[in-house]
Amino acid sequence: MREVPITEVAHIITEKLSSGGVFLTSNAGGQPNVMTLGWGGVTQFFSVPCFIAPVRDSRFTYGILRKAGAFTVSIPLHDMKPELMLAGTRSGRDINKFDGQGMTAAPAQQVHAPIVAECELHVECESMGYVRLNPDTMSDLIMGRWYPSGDMHTLFLGKVVRCYYTQEPQAEP
Ligand SMILES: Cc1cc2nc3c(=O)[nH]c(=O)nc-3n(C[C@H](O)[C@H](O)[C@H](O)COP(=O)(O)O)c2cc1C
Repeated sequence: MREVPITEVAHIITEKLSSGGVFLTSNAGGQPNVMTLGWGGVTQFFSVPCFIAPVRDSRFTYGILRKAGAFTVSIPLHDMKPELMLAGTRSGRDINKFDGQGMTAAPAQQVHAPIVAECELHVECESMGYVRLNPDTMSDLIMGRWYPSGDMHTLFLGKVVRCYYTQEPQAEP
């Protein structure tokens, strides 16, 4: 395990978010769940490094994050397309995505939400709060394109408390 400043890996996380996604893991009442996240990312808020996770109302994760005090983001640096597809298309309401699907829940260092053990890079976040996008303040263009059914995103604001590699990234050939 090697701690790394979040600023050193923010560009990697941004790139992975937009090319297949990353794993967002949460835990409430002892039932961990994982979903694929493609939006949001690392930024600075309240004078601390922060991860913004936009999660739609309809996700099982949404209800968990409303109650949970923390979440983690695990970033695969090798090909995990099948797992990202599964975590991004099946709901934790219907299946346990940590059961025989190629994703293993491992304890985080500091927060009460697991990491995805198969990933190389991890970010642990403590919840600072959340805000639901308001349909009345979004442009008609955005509402029509992204929210035709009103399934809005809530932005979950996580203070980055740990950022580390569990496996060193492979050097480029
Ligand atoms: C590549 C990819 C990116 C995704 N990004 C997001 C996202 O940023 N926010 C979101 O709410 N759902 C996103 N999803 C959809 C959720 O991952 C998906 O609905 C998932 O099944 C929710 O799981 P849950 O019901 O167990 O929470 C994405 C799906 C994929 C495949």
